[in-house]
Amino acid sequence: MRRTAALHRWLYVLFLLWLPLGLAASTASQPSVTSEPIIIAHRGASGHAPEHTLSSYRLAARMHAGYIEIDVQMTKDQKMIAIHDTTLARTTNAESIYPNRAPWRVSDFSLNELKGLDAGSWFDGRFAAERIPTLDEVVNMLKTEHIQTPLYIETKQPGIEAAVVRLLQKKGYLQPGRAMFQSFHPESLQALKVMIPRGIALIQLVGENEACHSDPVKLLQRIAVYADGIGLPISLATKEWVRTAHSLGLIVHIYTVNEPRDLARLCAIGIDGLFTDYPDRPARIGVCRRPPHP
Ligand code: G3P
Ligand code: CA
Repeated sequence: MRRTAALHRWLYVLFLLWLPLGLAASTASQPSVTSEPIIIAHRGASGHAPEHTLSSYRLAARMHAGYIEIDVQMTKDQKMIAIHDTTLARTTNAESIYPNRAPWRVSDFSLNELKGLDAGSWFDGRFAAERIPTLDEVVNMLKTEHIQTPLYIETKQPGIEAAVVRLLQKKGYLQPGRAMFQSFHPESLQALKVMIPRGIALIQLVGENEACHSDPVKLLQRIAVYADGIGLPISLATKEWVRTAHSLGLIVHIYTVNEPRDLARLCAIGIDGLFTDYPDRPARIGVCRRPPHP
C-alpha cells in the first residue's frame, strides 16, 4: 500500500514537471491565432437594411463590422451625401416626386430637394422614413450613438477630396484606424495622398474590365506607386493576384463577398479584407484563421 502511495506521489510530481513542457509543445504545433481579414460593411449592412441609410450603418456597427463603407458624391449645391448610384431612380422615389427630371442625376438636385425623397421603401416599407444622409449626418449619428466603427470612404467622383478631408478632419476621423479611402479614380487617390496623414490607407479599386485588359504585374506596379492596397472584384480573387499584390506591399480587399462558400475560399488565399452586404455572416461561419506572415 505504502509503495503504491509513493508511486502515485512520484507520478504526480512528474506530471507537474511535464505540464509547462506539454503545453508549450501543444501550442507550438498549432498556427498561432492571427489577424483575420477585416470585414467591411458594403454600403452599410445593405443586405438587411436599405443601402447608405443611417439604419444600414447603425446595423453594420451592431453586427461588429470592422469598417463601414460609404460611397460619397456631391449634390448640385456642393453638399457631400452618401449614395452609390449617380442617379436616384433605383434607391429613391425620385421618379414619382420629380416626374419631369429624368434621368434624375444626383448632381442635378440640391440637398433640399433630395431630402424630400424616400430612400427606404424600395428596400422594404418598414424603412419609408429613411432619407439620403449627408456625410456630416452620418458622422454625427455615429458620434451621438457612441459608435466607434471606422469609416471606409469611397470617392465616387474626382474633385471632392478636399471637402471630404476637411469634414473628416473637423470630426476627428482623419487618423490611422479611424478611416480608409478608396476609389476607382487614380487621380482621386493621388489627390488624397498629399492631403491626409501617413498611416491612413489608400485603396485603388480595380474593375473587371480594366483588369482583363491589363498585365496584372504592370497594373499593380503602377498602383503601388501611390496606393497601399487594391480592391478586387470577387471574380478576380485568385492566389496569383493576392501573391503578386503582397509581393509589392499592397493589401488586398475583395468586393463583394456574400456567399459563405466564398468566404472560406477567399480567406485561404490570404486576403486582407472583404466587403459584404451581410457583416454578420463571417463571424457566424467562423472561417478565416491564417498563420502569421513569414
Ligand atoms: O469598394 C468596393 C465596392 O464598393 C466597389 O464597388 O460599385 O459597390 O461601389 P461599388
Ligand atoms: Ca463602394
